Parts: sequence; C-alpha cells; structure tokens
Amino acid sequence: MPSATVGCPTPADPRRCVVPRGVYAPQADTRRLRRALHREPITDRTHVLDLGTGSGALAVEAARLGGRVTAVDISWRAVAAAWLNGVLNGQSLRVRHGDLASAVPGRRFHLVLANPPYVPAPGAAPPRGPARAWDAGPDGRLLIDRVCDSAPAVLHPTGALLLVHSHLCGVDATLARLTEAGLRAEVVDRTRLPFGPVLRSRLGWLRERGLVNGETTEELVVIRGRRS
Ligand SMILES: C[S@@+](CC[C@H](N)C(=O)[O-])C[C@H]1O[C@@H](n2cnc3c(N)ncnc32)[C@H](O)[C@@H]1O
Repeated sequence: MPSATVGCPTPADPRRCVVPRGVYAPQADTRRLRRALHREPITDRTHVLDLGTGSGALAVEAARLGGRVTAVDISWRAVAAAWLNGVLNGQSLRVRHGDLASAVPGRRFHLVLANPPYVPAPGAAPPRGPARAWDAGPDGRLLIDRVCDSAPAVLHPTGALLLVHSHLCGVDATLARLTEAGLRAEVVDRTRLPFGPVLRSRLGWLRERGLVNGETTEELVVIRGRRS
C-alpha cells in the first residue's frame, strides 16, 4: 500500500501519521474536531468512540489525552492506517471494521467523535473508492442522519457526541435530528474557509440544487449533543 507521511493531525505536529493512498488525510474538519476534543474532560475511565476514524488521527489524540479509544471505519485501508498510527504513536487503540455503530454492538461510550462524509454529491448510488470518505448523497446527510439517530444507543447516560460538518448540509437539520433523538444539541464551534477541490469541482450542480449561490466559502460547524 503506497503511503505518505504527514504531520498528525497538523503539519506542525511532530507525531507521526501515516496516510495510505485512499485514506482521508487529516484536514480542517479533523482539526476543528480535535480542538473540540481538547475541551472535553477525558480521564483513563473515559471510553471514546471515533466513528469513521480514517487515519486514526483523532483516535490517537483521544488516547493521548488518556481516553480508552475504539475506532471504527468501513474502509479496510483506514482500519489498517488507524491501527498503525496507534502503534507509531505509542497509543493503544481498539480498531474495528464496520458500518458506524453496528461495529460496536451493545457498547456505550462517554464521548463519541464523528467526522462523517458530508459533502453533497450527485447521484443516488452509494459512493465507491476514496469518495466514500466525503460524498454523502444529494443533501450530504446520508451518514449524518444515521450518526444522529444512533447516538443515544451508543452514548453513556452522561455521554456526549461531537460531530463536525459543513453548513451546506444543514446545521438546523442536525440540531433538530439530535433533539428528536433525545439529545440536547448546540453548536460549539464555527469557522469559515474557502471551498476545497471537491466542492469546486461540482459548483454547477450545487448551484442547480440551490445549495450554493455566489459564495465561495463554507462554514465548518462542530455540534455537541449530550444525553443529560
Ligand atoms: C471525512 S473522513 C474522516 C476521517 C477522520 N475521522 C478525520 O477526521 O480525519 C470520513 C471517514 O468515514 C469513513 N466512513 C464512511 N462511511 C462509513 C460507514 N458507513 N461506517 C464507518 N465509517 C465510514 C470513511 O472511510 C472515512 O475514513
């Protein structure tokens, strides 16, 4: 598996993070979630679930902060990368292959991290290949809605979910979905940044759908949902 080594999860970070081809390299959304993770009270009794772990950058960070971390991804390459990055950084991770929370049946966590695919994408067919890390159906909510709906079942009674996505797929929709699922939800971080290459490549389609007008920036939003 050809690989590139980059800072994990920021270029200034001396820790090692191997990102094989086809695995999502830590980006601005990873970094926003990492900032939010640092605001959580984590001890050696905190069980953390990283849904869609990719390179494992956030899982490694949560373990470094003291948490007992389980990382899940549907991509075998990502599973291998997360495991390897745990080893390279001296952190013990449980890495599971599977579809979101179904990979950890019956388990509950104090903190659930999710940077799911959220980019609106043309076509109804499930994405294949590397695009599976970002494409998420015509409204971008294919995975987000599932994460919201399944959160109560994987959260400890005092647990919290941290979820990052673009404003393009609907912040209010996520807040409403989490509320419907029985969580108290709020936006805890927002940052605006220029469209990346994937959004730029489908600007025409995004305009046709009314998701984008003249703007060339998107807002990344971190939402926190808690059970109590
Ligand atoms: C945007 S990337 C985030 C990677 C990493 N957490 C980060 O912040 O850098 C989304 C990840 O979700 C994974 N993924 C997509 N669909 C999934 C599913 N149904 N179950 C588990 N993981 C999934 C992708 O393989 C990809 O690694």
